[in-house]
Amino acid sequence: MSVWTVANQKGGVGKTTTAVTLAGIAAERGLPVLLIDLDPHASATHYLRAADDDGAQALLRGETPVPVRCSVPGIHVLGAGAGLAAIERQHGANGMGRRLSQGLAALRERFDPIIIDTPPMLGTLLINALAAADALVVPVQTDPLALHGLEGLMRTVEMMRKAGAQVPEPVMLPTLMDRRVRISHETLDQLKSRWGAAVFDGGVVPMDTRIREAARDGRTLNSAAPYRHATSTYEALFERLYQPTPEAA
Ligand SMILES: Nc1ncnc2c1ncn2[C@@H]1O[C@H](COP(=O)(O)OP(=O)(O)OP(=O)(O)O)[C@@H](O)[C@H]1O
Ligand SMILES: [Mg+2]
Repeated sequence: MSVWTVANQKGGVGKTTTAVTLAGIAAERGLPVLLIDLDPHASATHYLRAADDDGAQALLRGETPVPVRCSVPGIHVLGAGAGLAAIERQHGANGMGRRLSQGLAALRERFDPIIIDTPPMLGTLLINALAAADALVVPVQTDPLALHGLEGLMRTVEMMRKAGAQVPEPVMLPTLMDRRVRISHETLDQLKSRWGAAVFDGGVVPMDTRIREAARDGRTLNSAAPYRHATSTYEALFERLYQPTPEAA
C-alpha cells in the first residue's frame, strides 16, 4: 500500500510522463493502480483521456470521489478539473497540508500503487502531495538550469521536515538526456556529485520522440514502445519503488 509522489518545482522536466508511465507499468502487471492528477493544468488527465470531473479536488475537500477509467485499461484516475486551482487559494491556511493524506486512507485499501502527479510550483497542492508520499520521485532534466530548480524542491522538503512532516528521501530520475550533447553528460555528473545516492542508479531517461507520440495517442510508453531505452529505465524505477504486500507477493 504505497503512495508515490512525482514532484519537482521546475516545469517541463518529465513529471507527468513519469507518473503516467509508472501507472502504465503497474496496470500492465495487473496491479490496482490509481493515478491522482494534482496539477490544475490537468496534463495527466488529458494524456489519459480521463474525465476532468475534479475527482482530485473532491478528495481534498474531504469527499470520497469514485476514480474513473481512462484510455489505458487498468489505470483508475482521479482527474484534475477547473476547481483544483481554487484549492490553492482557498486552503492556504495551516493544517491543510495533511488533507490529502487523510483523504487517501480509504483509497489505500483498494489501490496499490497510488501515483500522484503534481504542479511545478510550491503551494498547497504540492505540500499535500509531499506530505502524503511513501516514495518521492523527482524527475530532473539533464540541463544546468534544472539543477537550480531542484534546489527549490529540496528546500521545500527540508522546510516540511523541520515542521514535523515525514517526507521520504527522494529518488532523483535523470530525464530528457541527450546523449549526443556534452552538457547533458556534464549535468548528470554534477547531479551525482551534488546528490550522490539520491540519484537513481538504474538508468536515465533519454530524449525519445516516442514519448510525445505515446502521449498524443493516449497510450503509455510501456505499451506503445516496449523495447525502448526509456521504457526499460522506467521499468527499473518501477522495480525499485514497488513493494508487494505479503498477500500479493
Ligand atoms: N524523455 C523524453 N523525451 C522526449 N520528450 C519528452 C521526454 N519526457 C517528456 N517529454 C515531453 O516533454 C514535455 C514535458 O514533459 P512532461 O509534461 O512530462 O513534464 P512535466 O514536468 O510534467 O511538465 P509540467 O511542469 O508542465 O507539468 C511533454 O511534451 C513530454 O511529452
Ligand atoms: Mg506535468
